[in-house]
Amino acid sequence: MKTDGGTAAAKRRAGERAATAVEDDFVVGLGTGSTAAYAIDAIGAAVADGLDVRGIPTSFQSRQRALEAGIALTSLDAVDRVDLAIDGADQVVDDPGADAHGALIKGGGGAHAREKLVDATAERFVVVVDPSKLTARFDRSVPVEVLPDAYTVVADRVRDLEGEPTLRSAKHKDGPVVTDNGNLVLDCEFDPIDDPGHLAATLSGIPGVVEHGLFVDLADTIYVGLEDGVDVRE
Ligand code: 5RP
Repeated sequence: MKTDGGTAAAKRRAGERAATAVEDDFVVGLGTGSTAAYAIDAIGAAVADGLDVRGIPTSFQSRQRALEAGIALTSLDAVDRVDLAIDGADQVVDDPGADAHGALIKGGGGAHAREKLVDATAERFVVVVDPSKLTARFDRSVPVEVLPDAYTVVADRVRDLEGEPTLRSAKHKDGPVVTDNGNLVLDCEFDPIDDPGHLAATLSGIPGVVEHGLFVDLADTIYVGLEDGVDVRE
């Protein structure tokens, strides 16, 4: 992934533009990652100017960011609706002729279980990305969150599907990444992913899988930040 200033500016544009869709009295799902963080900051700035919203964070990271931004927080069990969710993605299928158009891979931050719960519950789910995330066909690994006891069993099932699972390791210390939910993540290479919807359903059916990072038929709008503006795709 590019991390140059151009990419950061594109992420910022996408995040800030999505934040303008937040209206007074909204309950907003707050996504995880660097692009969603720009949206959280922009919502926080609007709150400082008088906007009345409540946020539902999708991770410890987005919770901290929202608290710093001054956004009042709530939870799914305390509301009767989520008006809008704004979240990033690791890849987006961008091919209007393909069945998988608009499908996402998420979970680069290991937050995809709560992200899917909140994003799928929202009346409207807006995805914020820079152009490097767009692809004609998925070619990234699919993060699969698993119960700790299940990781070898799920890994075997992924190999049965001709996938190659790798237990995600913590970058700065020994041992695996542990999610906010106390689980592990298998990053699973499938080459190719011909039918994301079918793979999504198959992965969901494996005992021990908590959630996977394939988001199919969930996104309503994609905001693609550019160097000089935002491309909005419905
Ligand atoms: C976290 C995610 C993120 O939304 C995804 O990794 C994109 O992150 P970024 O905006 O930093 O590129 O799915 O689980």
